[in-house]
Amino acid sequence: MNAINQTFAIGGEQHVNRLGYGAMRLSDQPGNFGSYPNWEQGKMLLRKAVEFGVQFFDSARAYGPQWVDKIIADALHPYAENVFIATKGGVDKFAPDRIVTDGRPATITAQIDSALDNLKTEQIDLFQLHRVDPRVPIEESVGAIEQAREQGKLRFIGLSNVNKDQLDRALTAAPIASVQNRFNQAEAADAALVDYTAELGIAYIPYGPLGAHPMRQGASLPTQSALAWLLRRSPNIIVIPGTTSTEHLKQNAAIWQNF
Ligand SMILES: NC(=O)c1ccc[n+]([C@@H]2O[C@H](COP(=O)([O-])OP(=O)(O)OC[C@H]3O[C@@H](n4cnc5c(N)ncnc54)[C@H](OP(=O)(O)O)[C@@H]3O)[C@@H](O)[C@H]2O)c1
Repeated sequence: MNAINQTFAIGGEQHVNRLGYGAMRLSDQPGNFGSYPNWEQGKMLLRKAVEFGVQFFDSARAYGPQWVDKIIADALHPYAENVFIATKGGVDKFAPDRIVTDGRPATITAQIDSALDNLKTEQIDLFQLHRVDPRVPIEESVGAIEQAREQGKLRFIGLSNVNKDQLDRALTAAPIASVQNRFNQAEAADAALVDYTAELGIAYIPYGPLGAHPMRQGASLPTQSALAWLLRRSPNIIVIPGTTSTEHLKQNAAIWQNF
């Protein structure tokens, strides 16, 4: 008998292993801008991740931009039944340091359609609002995602970079299945939201689980204890360490497998 649950049911329905994979770094570095230079190697890494037990893959329109969704599709499509792809919209990237937040409903709707093409799918497993556009009420951005969900274009809705108030407001517009915020052993200011999402049955997906920052390479925390700490912290946490190394992927998977 395991001491912790190895899976979490997203939306109360879709069980995924709690070891996921953050795919942001499968783009050109630094700045996550451009296609991954070792495309075939990146595809092999994604396939290895599946072999090691990864089911939840985290991507976003802003990664590449669009290139990370495309490499995931190139590597994993047609998708195995238990492979679960999460992408995001509402943020786009026009240069390594030019990131634009646009949460207007028409933009979100167009980005969902484009993600369907990039991921070569008829239904996105989880579409996350990447961040809240201060010019657009969150209910309107989430309302556009909900409309796409009702049309069958996506299965679950997630939020990223939100606080409790924004989550509560979003919940008035749509069912919310996940929250993705920065949270790790050394940066645990979001602890109350972790507990709140657990109470609501919402997945909590901590980004930067190893303490790395998007524009800089390298984990700043001892990786084994950082992942173990998150997996123990709350049963609704799905970890998404990012790596471009098969060896690191294997090490990260071993931590989850040994629980
Ligand atoms: N929602 C948001 O706003 C947001 C923002 C940032 C990130 N994210 C998501 O969160 C995911 C994870 O974040 P992240 O990639 O920035 O940071 P991270 O997972 O904390 O750390 C990634 C770094 O750790 C290294 N690493 C991974 N496993 C290792 C191991 N076993 N031993 C030693 N080093 C190891 C990787 O280098 P190697 O390549 O050499 O292994 C990489 O440089 C992203 O991929 C993305 O999907 C979301």
